[in-house]
Amino acid sequence: MTAEESRLLEKLDLARLPRHVAVIMDGNGRWAQKRHLPRIAGHRAGTKSARTTIETCARLKIEALTLYAFSVENWRRPKVEIDFLMQLLREYLRKEMPLLQKNNIRMRFLGRIEELPAGVQNDVRGAMEKTAGNKGMVLCVALNYGGRAEIVDAMNAILAERNGHGAQDKVTEAQLSSHLYTDGLPDPDLLIRTSGEMRVSNFLLWQIAYAEIFVTETLWPDFNRARLLESLLEFQKRERRYGGIREGEPSEEKPVRAAGH
Ligand code: FPP
Repeated sequence: MTAEESRLLEKLDLARLPRHVAVIMDGNGRWAQKRHLPRIAGHRAGTKSARTTIETCARLKIEALTLYAFSVENWRRPKVEIDFLMQLLREYLRKEMPLLQKNNIRMRFLGRIEELPAGVQNDVRGAMEKTAGNKGMVLCVALNYGGRAEIVDAMNAILAERNGHGAQDKVTEAQLSSHLYTDGLPDPDLLIRTSGEMRVSNFLLWQIAYAEIFVTETLWPDFNRARLLESLLEFQKRERRYGGIREGEPSEEKPVRAAGH
């Protein structure tokens, strides 16, 4: 560990870490461009940042980490880049399996997995099966993921369940949550986006309702352990109110519900 990393780690309150960290890994193309390299070199360099982030979060005992690897919109990219990203993911799953097992990480994939090429589907299922018994951090890879698609899929799953059943009550927030790809996971407390873009880009639209958003100018391949620790420290500086008022502030009435608007 570098001197900078241990200085940052010392400042971190390990009892107040986010339960779920979500990351929009952006800027691989720009990182490569700056070095006069092809875009795919940026993606390859990005896998190193993914490795560091995964390992560090697992060691910090963060419950869940979600990485946005491929969106439903990413099919608009050139075919060679798409093919490369799919191959990179397959290679990553094969090479990183020992690291995942060593850190007791359970893998999940969020998205329309059934639309992916057969080989990718196969590896994705394999990774889930191999890590199914692990009890440590849940690592979610958002793959062929779209936030709107996820909500539509959840509604269709609810409708499919109701077909043939009498109950036609209104859909509740809890019911919708339990049909999202993230069923059973806490909502992200911290959303990190690299490379400076101030956008949510169709990522976890439902789940980030109360997430703290941290945007850094750092490009994803440069996002190292020190930058991750900095974002966790920034999270700990934020005051989280969930639509209520500051703790200790006098209020005339008792809150009527736990989470407001
Ligand atoms: C965004 O950079 C990055 C992606 C669309 C792909 C993310 C994939 C990786 C980091 C590698 C694989 C990760 C895992 C977990 C196996 P961009 O191409 O949009 O960059 P730009 O905005 O600078 O063009």
